[in-house]
Amino acid sequence: METKLLGRDGIGEAAEVLRRGGLVAFPTETVYGLGGDALDPEASRKIYAAKGRPSDNPLIVHVSGISEVPRLVKELTEPARKLMEAFWPGPLTLVLPKSELVPPETTGGLSTVALRCPENAVTLELIRLSGVPLAGPSANSSGKPSPTEAEHVYHDLKGKIEIILDDGPVGIGVESAIIDMTEAVPTLLRPGAVTPEELSEVLGQPVAVDPAIIAGTLSEGIHPKAPGMKYRHYAPEAEMTMVTTRARKEAPGMPLALWARGDEAVYRRMLELANADAVAGKSTAILCSEEALSYFSACLKGPKLYVLGKRSEPLTMTRNLFRVLREFDREGIRRVVTESYPSTGLGFALMNRLGKACGQREDVVHEEK
Ligand code: TXA
Ligand code: MG
Repeated sequence: METKLLGRDGIGEAAEVLRRGGLVAFPTETVYGLGGDALDPEASRKIYAAKGRPSDNPLIVHVSGISEVPRLVKELTEPARKLMEAFWPGPLTLVLPKSELVPPETTGGLSTVALRCPENAVTLELIRLSGVPLAGPSANSSGKPSPTEAEHVYHDLKGKIEIILDDGPVGIGVESAIIDMTEAVPTLLRPGAVTPEELSEVLGQPVAVDPAIIAGTLSEGIHPKAPGMKYRHYAPEAEMTMVTTRARKEAPGMPLALWARGDEAVYRRMLELANADAVAGKSTAILCSEEALSYFSACLKGPKLYVLGKRSEPLTMTRNLFRVLREFDREGIRRVVTESYPSTGLGFALMNRLGKACGQREDVVHEEK
């Protein structure tokens, strides 16, 4: 199959492809998605096949507005409606009990469905024109970092899907926050650009955070409620280690937040680790913030330097993260040593993805009280 890369003027053709059960990659504000008709079990099967994704991992269903939700769910509850009104279109996915209309092939056999309305004019128009809700996981091969540019989608899925709608690099760069609305206490299953604090404020009640996110790792007995969160994810081929000074601090909406300072003790340790790897003959990289750049560029010899963004503006870092992880692969980097960041606000999502990229490998310089 030939995969066409089209711009905005390809929306009509893409809508046609969706209506006849084909696959189209679409842009969103978070990452690119791989779309098919969510109500067509055959289209969902094609999505799993194209991604190489385990079929117990449910897909997110994308809609162009709240009015499309009622027929997809058992009941649109008031709290769920409040969140949709406050954050849609935007980077928030809600899990609700599904209606009969949504086939089990789309939801990985679950009785719930994850719904999201993305903030991207091309994709909203695509959904409206095609008249179908879009089942859409991230448009990467399973296990690879999510795609933040059309080029990444092409690399992973060329020959497997009909069209990629290119709308340039995404604005946020990490996937939507997922909140489970089927529990008595709404529970965050995946951190994103909409924070637990913001969700609590709109709901007027506290939001729980899935313990698997806080643990950061698949600790014994802790199983994430979003099936996708259990897989190896977001990771480059290289072995990555996060160097941190850390203390667990109370933060609103989160029982415990990882608080990582950028300071010279961290940078020194990063250099030490990276130099040891470079000396051992491994192709090594240091991943740091702009704020740390001058420190490293002054004394770096063997390892290559990659800048993630500004520590003071986490959005500049989430936007670049998956692209940089892909660069590591392209450039044959085998070892990466990365700085760590405060996990408040958008930093919560950043540290969640960075932690996964590191396979939770951490090097703690010193604990703060
Ligand atoms: O930002 C995003 O959400 C992107 C763009 C394309 O919209 N999509 C995305 O999809 O990240 P995907 O398939 O890569 O991740 C979906 C996550 C998985 O972890 C999956 O297990 C979880 O959502 N999920 C989907 N349906 C669920 C459900 N009914 N209950 C619990 N978790 C669900
Ligand atoms: Mg994904």
